[in-house]
Amino acid sequence: MPILRNRIADSSGFDQKAIILAPARLNTREPQSAAGPKTGFAEEFSDCAPLVWQWRFGHNPPSLKILVAITGASGALYAQRLLDNLNPREHEIHVVMSHYAQQVVAEELPDGLKLPEGIQPHGLKSMNAPFASGSNPPDVMVIIPCTMGTMGRIAHGYSSDVLLRAADVVLKERKKLILVPRETPLSLIHVKNMELLLLAGATLIPANPSFYSGAKTIVELADTVVARVLDHIGLPNQLAPRWSEEKE
Ligand SMILES: Cc1cc2nc3c(=O)[nH]c(=O)nc-3n(C[C@H](O)[C@H](O)[C@H](O)COP(=O)(O)O)c2cc1C
Repeated sequence: MPILRNRIADSSGFDQKAIILAPARLNTREPQSAAGPKTGFAEEFSDCAPLVWQWRFGHNPPSLKILVAITGASGALYAQRLLDNLNPREHEIHVVMSHYAQQVVAEELPDGLKLPEGIQPHGLKSMNAPFASGSNPPDVMVIIPCTMGTMGRIAHGYSSDVLLRAADVVLKERKKLILVPRETPLSLIHVKNMELLLLAGATLIPANPSFYSGAKTIVELADTVVARVLDHIGLPNQLAPRWSEEKE
């Protein structure tokens, strides 16, 4: 399938050449850059997740407005895998990147960030984005991966660009803010900022992969985090195996 390179008009002037618009690929474990073979139960039945939801709850999963923000922490793959597993035909999906996210994407994703078709990218500096106002907030904002810098700025109410403003809006409008922080070790400042954000109602899902699922590739390991993010957005998924207490 063709992959289109797309230079995105952006008043902030930062280079978005690294962003590629690609056909949406949903709930697939096939990585964007280091493709590995499809294996396992979760892989085979991943497309059934909405059907399972329908059977369990008697209606389709709700259509959501989701803002994905990418910052300059290590772990651009987490952002890529989340985007790969959001369906722009079912949900309204927006993306915004910090300046340093561009640098980390260039370091960590050899083929650049691939935006599935239908996902709407936004520049950082313009406040002419729907989610910059409390009158039009997203249902969910996910900051993945989230730097300590961005976390601190949100915790202390900075709204100096559209990414930070959106997080401020999401908190004040009591929508869902999910942060996937990545740093090690943590200082007391980081922990205090995390505490503030938790008190303000944010959800923190640290970029800590789990190993009990037997992941065989980096993508599968990243998916153990992304699956938890999808769970907290409220989207059905079979991206990573779930722990079974009944296992002997
Ligand atoms: C390759 C690379 C990896 C980085 N990894 C992290 C990280 O894991 N966590 C973090 O808090 N900052 C990390 N940084 C530093 C941030 O990018 C830097 O503090 C930047 O100012 C954050 O800006 P932002 O929050 O607007 O993206 C990294 C920087 C580079 C170049």
